[in-house]
Amino acid sequence: MEIFKQIAPLKAFLNAQKRAGKSIGLVPTMGALHAGHLSLITTSAAQNDVTVCSIFVNPTQFNNPGDLQKYPRTLDKDTLLLEKVECDAVFCPDASEMYPERSIIKFDFGHLDKVMEGAFRPGHFSGVGLVVSKLFNIIQPTHAYFGQKDWQQFAVIRRLVDELNFDLELTSVPTSREDDGLAMSSRNLRLNPEQRQVATVFYESLMAAKQALQQGKTVQETRAIVQTKFDERRVSLEYFELADSKNLNILENVKASDAPSGQPIMCIAGFVGEVRLIDNMFLQ
Ligand code: PAJ
Repeated sequence: MEIFKQIAPLKAFLNAQKRAGKSIGLVPTMGALHAGHLSLITTSAAQNDVTVCSIFVNPTQFNNPGDLQKYPRTLDKDTLLLEKVECDAVFCPDASEMYPERSIIKFDFGHLDKVMEGAFRPGHFSGVGLVVSKLFNIIQPTHAYFGQKDWQQFAVIRRLVDELNFDLELTSVPTSREDDGLAMSSRNLRLNPEQRQVATVFYESLMAAKQALQQGKTVQETRAIVQTKFDERRVSLEYFELADSKNLNILENVKASDAPSGQPIMCIAGFVGEVRLIDNMFLQ
């Protein structure tokens, strides 16, 4: 596995692969890798000749400087994990390599970055759009892989690719979960044992909400069920929404969308102590 900290040698390596007609799969990450990330790598490796994983804690997507500082950086452990899966190259630049000057470009994704995560993390998706555009331009992958876990991020990136004509195929990989249903996340490491136990309320609520919505309950009625579950576990619910998975229009009931562009998806966010967690589930 090749490790690159700089853009120029990475490009030289990739150009040689491209000249040989090889397909290139990109998996962008911020490191602190877990089995969820690795499932993206193995999906890419199964579909491409060359798989590149980028590890970069992107400062422009953090609206809270404390969060950026606290973000776990475990590059040595990450590269050991990547050695064990079929990853061919790691791109782990310093911030000065990615942003030699303070960036001035902003992205506005309209409705896509105003709802749900966008409402609670101003500027976040602009920073994601920026760094993902830079990675697409540097690496010029034929395929790129993102997790369903961050569905809104996927919807934003799909729009970015469509609107800016990036010549690549996007894939969303299903969420990897722990045995008790908790979606894998680097943030789970920050939960103490008691918090780790109650964190299953996210998955349990999504399962209960799915049943309620399928039985014809409105989103408002369903949200009350979710809220009760959160209150019982003393976990604070930030939002529970049903949305059209493509345009992220917020739905009030399963049949609310006259002209659906995507399947309905339930999205949820909340705090277990200080730790903010998100999850989602398709309705069908
Ligand atoms: P990060 O949080 O490191 O996630 C990297 C990729 O792993 C994302 O596509 C995310 O959706 C996926 N992922 C995380 N947990 C997962 C799980 N349990 N199952 C499946 N996939 C999972 O998302 C980012 O980094 C950044 O915003 C990034 C796209 C790299 C831009 O900086």
